[in-house]
Order: sequence, then C-alpha cells, then structure tokens
Amino acid sequence: MTPFLAVENVWQLLDGLKELGLPAVLKTADWGYDGKGQTVIRSIDEASAAWTKLGVADAILEKLIDFDCEVSVVAARSLGGDFASYGPIGNSHRQHILDVSVCPARVTASIAREAVEITRNVLQKLDVIGVLCVEFFVTKEGQLLINETAPRPHNSGHLTIDAHVTCQFEQQVRAICGLPLGSTEQRSPSAMANLLGDLWEPCKPNWSRLMQNPQVKLHLYGKREPRRGRKMGHITTLAEDPADAERIAREARSSLSLR
Ligand SMILES: Nc1ncnc2c1ncn2[C@@H]1O[C@H](COP(=O)(O)OP(=O)(O)OP(=O)(O)O)[C@@H](O)[C@H]1O
Ligand SMILES: [Mg+2]
Repeated sequence: MTPFLAVENVWQLLDGLKELGLPAVLKTADWGYDGKGQTVIRSIDEASAAWTKLGVADAILEKLIDFDCEVSVVAARSLGGDFASYGPIGNSHRQHILDVSVCPARVTASIAREAVEITRNVLQKLDVIGVLCVEFFVTKEGQLLINETAPRPHNSGHLTIDAHVTCQFEQQVRAICGLPLGSTEQRSPSAMANLLGDLWEPCKPNWSRLMQNPQVKLHLYGKREPRRGRKMGHITTLAEDPADAERIAREARSSLSLR
C-alpha cells in the first residue's frame, strides 16, 4: 500500500507530515474522483491552507510516490468464487485525471503476474462479487504499491469494450447475476484516450475529421454540458503493438482540435 494516515484536523495533518515526510497528498476520505478533493503539500507552510481548502472533516494523508508508472488490473469474481482479470493496463494521468490507458501495460512479466495475484487476493479477502479495479503505482525499484481500489467497472477498463472478448460491463452483469464469467481474452493490443470537456473549447471537436480514421472507435456518454475536466467520452484504438495503439489514439484525439 502507499503509506497513508487518517487525518481529522490540522494538528493531525502537521503530525502526519512529520511522520510521512514531504511531499505528500491530502485527499478527502469521501466522494473523491478524478483528482477532485486532492491537494499536494510540498512544504510545512502549505499545510494549513491545504486543510482549509479541502474543507472536510475526514481526510487521508499519503506520501507522494515518485513512481515509474501506474498500472491497473480490472477483475471480476463470480458468485461461485471464480476469478477473471484484464491487464495490467498502463495508465497515464494529467492533473490527477486518467488521460490514456494502454493494454497490455509495458511492465515485466513478473510485475504483471504479481499485480494480478495481488488483485486476486484483494477480491478474495474483501469477498467481492462483481468487478473491482485495483490501481497500482510501480516504483522505480519495481515494487507494486496499491494506490486505490474501485469496486466497479473502471475508466481504465473501457478499452475492454473494443479489445476483449467480454467487456468489463458484461462481466459485471455476469458476475452479479450468477452467470459464468466470460472470457477475458484480449483480441488485440489497444489504447484508450479520454475526451474531456476541455476539447470543446473554443469550439466543438472536429468529429468529421476523427471519423475519417477507420482505426478509431468513438464513445460519447451523452452528457449535455461540456466542462473543463469533465469526462465526455473516450476513443479506443487497436493495433498490432500497444505503443502503436497509444500513438494512434493520441494523434486521433489531437486531430479533434484541428480545423
Ligand atoms: N500518493 C500519491 N503519489 C503520487 N501520485 C498520486 C498519489 N495520489 C494520487 N496521485 C496521482 O493522482 C491520480 C488520481 O489519484 P486517485 O486515484 O487517488 O484519485 P481519485 O480522485 O480517486 O481518482 P479516480 O477514482 O478517478 O481514479 C493517481 O492516479 C496519481 O496519478
Ligand atoms: Mg484513481
């Protein structure tokens, strides 16, 4: 696990910073998502303002990890206790919001195996029925640290819709309805790029340009109001190599801003 402490007031925050060291991240204990309710603290002087800005009664203080990369494993456990997983999926974030996911992740086979085994244990120990995602930091020394668990289909698993025999959403239904889990075989290396509301500025994304690219699958969520940092949709690409899939996804997303 990422080293962390529960914090309920500014005095505990100051003690916590001494214990964990700087820099650190202060996070709301409830309802945080897409980096909302998170503040990085780089010096003791910033602590008081960070606590006031967060404005909650329950928080978590974490050591800021200088990681090599981030990966996630999306997995499912059925009513009968069967386990199936996708990934590890490689994730890059921008401003604490998931930006691009690539599957398979560029990690060694032993890190990949270990990430899946840790995830299997998490689902077993928590007696999870359904889909759960475990997010990891991979440290520069090759150690896996759990950052977060999300008990549901996860943004990093959206590429399973196009790249896997059974997607994470079908898997969720199968798991909780007592059906056998579907195959998580990956049909092709794949990448996913999130489309944030920022792309609607200064004007609507250039959809017709994107649609000219036959390698790109577009998924829009039907949200009416685009806002900065709001996830409006994503694109998925398949390619023979994960690095190519990532490059194509990033280029396709950039093309949305071309006139
Ligand atoms: N302790 C940390 N050290 C280094 N980076 C961090 C740390 N905590 C968060 N981050 C960065 O911010 C991202 C989002 O953090 P986290 O997963 O905790 O937030 P969240 O708001 O719950 O996001 P979501 O539920 O959308 O994944 C992480 O994936 C990572 O890139
Ligand atoms: Mg997260």
